[in-house]
Amino acid sequence: MTAVDLSPQMLHRLAEKAYALGLSDRVIGVRADLNDGWPALGTIDLVWAAASLHHMAEPDRVLAGAFDALRPGGLLALTEMDFFPRFLPDDIGVGRPGLEARVHAALSPAPAVDWTDQLARTGFVLEARRPFSVDLAAPLPPAAARYAEVCLRKLRSHLDEQLPVEDLATLDALLDSEGPHSVLRRDDLTVRTTRTTWAARRP
Ligand SMILES: C[S@@+](CC[C@H](N)C(=O)[O-])C[C@H]1O[C@@H](n2cnc3c(N)ncnc32)[C@H](O)[C@@H]1O
Repeated sequence: MTAVDLSPQMLHRLAEKAYALGLSDRVIGVRADLNDGWPALGTIDLVWAAASLHHMAEPDRVLAGAFDALRPGGLLALTEMDFFPRFLPDDIGVGRPGLEARVHAALSPAPAVDWTDQLARTGFVLEARRPFSVDLAAPLPPAAARYAEVCLRKLRSHLDEQLPVEDLATLDALLDSEGPHSVLRRDDLTVRTTRTTWAARRP
């Protein structure tokens, strides 16, 4: 398996996981910016693109590159999140209830892209399109709290005047890793979202 990613950290993480599973000899990391085109990888049976296409400057071009890279009969499995995950209960015990809903409403996220038509235009034949629910209940391992913190910090970076000062203060309290209200200290976090996967074949 060859993993292509722009980020050396992601490739390093993958190499560590492969090592831990005794799969180092079967996993090769290739650092490449797919916005600059696909690296030469030889004949490919399967392209697995999870939560990455939305990062690309020109996803159409990256899909066309995947099509060209696949052997005839090869499969593309494409997964994208339908909406940013939710983590918090409605009442978090600090500030006004409903904070997370107000954060998402304030940012008015673009609707999720349905890649079905684009895949067909690229030349792929759709084999399946399936939504998956992610609904992880509390208590969750510490990694979930770190994930929540990263996601909430990203949302916070896009927010300023769109939310009342009181909400921004509550959000900042959740993101103060050393503070008493840090999201890292919570044992009531959940992870709720949906993802859609498309399986499409190069004829
Ligand atoms: C949300 S992460 C998903 C990672 C992994 N596929 C997974 O499912 O856990 C998005 C990944 O896309 C990578 N990425 C973003 N832009 C890229 C680009 N232009 N070329 C290659 N990889 C890119 C990021 O470095 C990151 O590892």
